Amino acid sequence: MRYPAVVNSSVVNSWNEWDPLQEIVVGSADRACFEPTEPGSRPALRDTPGLPFPTGPKSEEDIGQANEELDGLVALLESQGIVVRRPQPHDFSAPVRTPDFEVGNQYCAVCPRDVMITMGNEIIEATMSRRARYFEYQPYRKLVYEYWNADPRVEWTTAPKPSMGDGMYREEFWDWPLEKRHERMHSFEFCVGQDEVIFDAADMSRLGRDILVQESMTTNRAGIRWLKRHLEPRGFRVHPVHFPLDFFPSHIDCTFVPLRPGLVLTNPERPLREGEEKMFLANDWELVDAPQPVLGNDEMPRYCQSSKWLSMNVLSLSPTKVVCEEREKPLQDLLAKLDFEVLTVPFRHVFEYGGSLHCATWDVRREGTREDYFP
Ligand code: NVA
Repeated sequence: MRYPAVVNSSVVNSWNEWDPLQEIVVGSADRACFEPTEPGSRPALRDTPGLPFPTGPKSEEDIGQANEELDGLVALLESQGIVVRRPQPHDFSAPVRTPDFEVGNQYCAVCPRDVMITMGNEIIEATMSRRARYFEYQPYRKLVYEYWNADPRVEWTTAPKPSMGDGMYREEFWDWPLEKRHERMHSFEFCVGQDEVIFDAADMSRLGRDILVQESMTTNRAGIRWLKRHLEPRGFRVHPVHFPLDFFPSHIDCTFVPLRPGLVLTNPERPLREGEEKMFLANDWELVDAPQPVLGNDEMPRYCQSSKWLSMNVLSLSPTKVVCEEREKPLQDLLAKLDFEVLTVPFRHVFEYGGSLHCATWDVRREGTREDYFP
């Protein structure tokens, strides 16, 4: 792609989740596989949890249905004048073997948000937390090189890869009874240990100078420390956040979703840890609960490992325009009441891959610059 010789902002420029969108990557289900069972993940069938979870490539039919919806999103975004890019093909059925682990197959490129994040004019590739996702940056590398070559202002950082060896995980986490989960809830100990730097990009949310990072099953305290040390000298402020009622936290974008300056869509079942809401309230931000999703947890696709709260995983095209899943009428109504123009697309088949509209995208360029919304 050729970029104009003179642009005001870098070809990579995105400081928050809502400024007017100019260029975005939309994921692809091509060659997607089932996520393997590994110490950082215990996938289970939603309808029959006792039966073994499939392994290897997903069916052509499943892939086709998800791709149709992803292509529908591409068409919608292009109709809005937004440049859309796609990942490179990748053989997810290939096993991975490193000096520290082996895993039978990889996962997919449906959710670029999980691995890639734009911090102003910098692209960061996350460490990732699961073995099957170790090489998930690869389908985006050609694009990263293109941006990096196109504009000397573009910075590119790959976070340190953790070993993902057995010792990095706390595998017994998956077998803890509910009682123990309650006990451990306040120490935020999950399936990953604290010795190595671990984070998925989707545990972050960008609000100008202020970056929220959720401590979770996919982001540990060392990961948050690394982000703090990397981002704070660059003028950001990093805020660890916690949602103690979520016993399996992973990725912040079904829990706490900033929509424009002064407004966050919140999950009524996952309040912030007491005290962490202060920065919002002190700056007159409104925290508005999302309505109950139309599809309940037991109606989600059989292989989906995420919750019904994928309903609130919306994509902002601007501070006044949001894309929402087509059947989530109560949320659409709420957003309309909050003065948003709401665009809709069907996306239920993509849910099988654990994400919705925000997860399945990675915004590379939005208008605007870094603002301080929490002075
Ligand atoms: N772990 C989140 C999904 C994040 C995309 C949830 O299940 O609600």
